[in-house]
Amino acid sequence: MAGTVVSYGTESSNQVRERRARRAGGRMTDTPPPTATDAGQRPPALVARGIVKRYGHVEALKGADFECRAGEVTALIGDNGAGKSTLVKILSGTALPDAGTITVNGAEYRPDSPAASHTAGIETVYQDLALAPDLGPAANLFLGRERRRAGLLGRLGFMDDRAMRDDATRTFAELGVTADTSRASVRALSGGQRQGVAVARAVAWGRSIVLLDEPTAALGVVQTQNVLRLVRTVADSGIAVVLISHSMPDVLAVADRIEVLRLGRRVARFTRAEASVDRLVAAMTGGAEAAAPAAGLADINGGHPA
Ligand SMILES: Nc1ncnc2c1ncn2[C@@H]1O[C@H](COP(=O)(O)OP(=O)(O)OP(=O)(O)O)[C@@H](O)[C@H]1O
Ligand SMILES: [Mg+2]
Repeated sequence: MAGTVVSYGTESSNQVRERRARRAGGRMTDTPPPTATDAGQRPPALVARGIVKRYGHVEALKGADFECRAGEVTALIGDNGAGKSTLVKILSGTALPDAGTITVNGAEYRPDSPAASHTAGIETVYQDLALAPDLGPAANLFLGRERRRAGLLGRLGFMDDRAMRDDATRTFAELGVTADTSRASVRALSGGQRQGVAVARAVAWGRSIVLLDEPTAALGVVQTQNVLRLVRTVADSGIAVVLISHSMPDVLAVADRIEVLRLGRRVARFTRAEASVDRLVAAMTGGAEAAAPAAGLADINGGHPA
């Protein structure tokens, strides 16, 4: 079937701002998005302190710290098994921490379900995507937030499929994503195409924070560049975007700040200006440069008890 390709186009910051302004008018959310202020004045959108997570006798997080800011792309990097996805699951209410505190926009945040994270304005693309394979692109966009028909039919549980499909078509278009919303299921889409739907869902609903766990892992070069552009423009619209990636060039191209996890702890933080591939790799692997960080490196974390 023609027209099933999911791809990303470019979109200017102004277009994204306009989109969010329209959305704040009531289309997909009734809460206006936060606005970015001057770089020096941005408060942290989310602050996690001393997060511990155990799976049996495996300690995936050993007192990890993390923070991200509105209007910025924060890259979360670390070697395989460092605890990045575990942290994302905790921030998105999919896993419960054994210890630690989290605040979102200054308020205590203890999500016990993904729905609780949505209420706090947080949307997530999980590493395993978590799309419903038997539903189409539009139904996946509205998963858990289905729109009911008006009147008695709606009260009886009938969904307004046409309105959701129209809205999905518009949302994909506004984001520069072309997906065939008449598709009955996303099962037949390629891995990269499904990743496109998952990213669109997160950026469409995210009001405060968007967590992206390796959103470009299955994408080709061109689609990856388009996702990175989308990540940038979403951050420019005032959202805090958290990007997990193993690609250091991608991280350096798009991130404002970089936080490094190693063995369940944050071991280093960099601003974009402080970062280089060598420094990031050294921090991830515990190499020489990580032991003697460059001046201006904001924080070497190790003070938290495991
Ligand atoms: N459900 C689970 N049960 C048991 N151990 C787990 C579970 N989830 C994660 N772990 C362990 O926790 C540690 C951190 O895993 P996590 O998935 O957070 O790493 P990651 O940084 O996302 O790695 P990658 O870059 O490979 O995605 C690993 O040792 C992993 O085996
Ligand atoms: Mg992971």
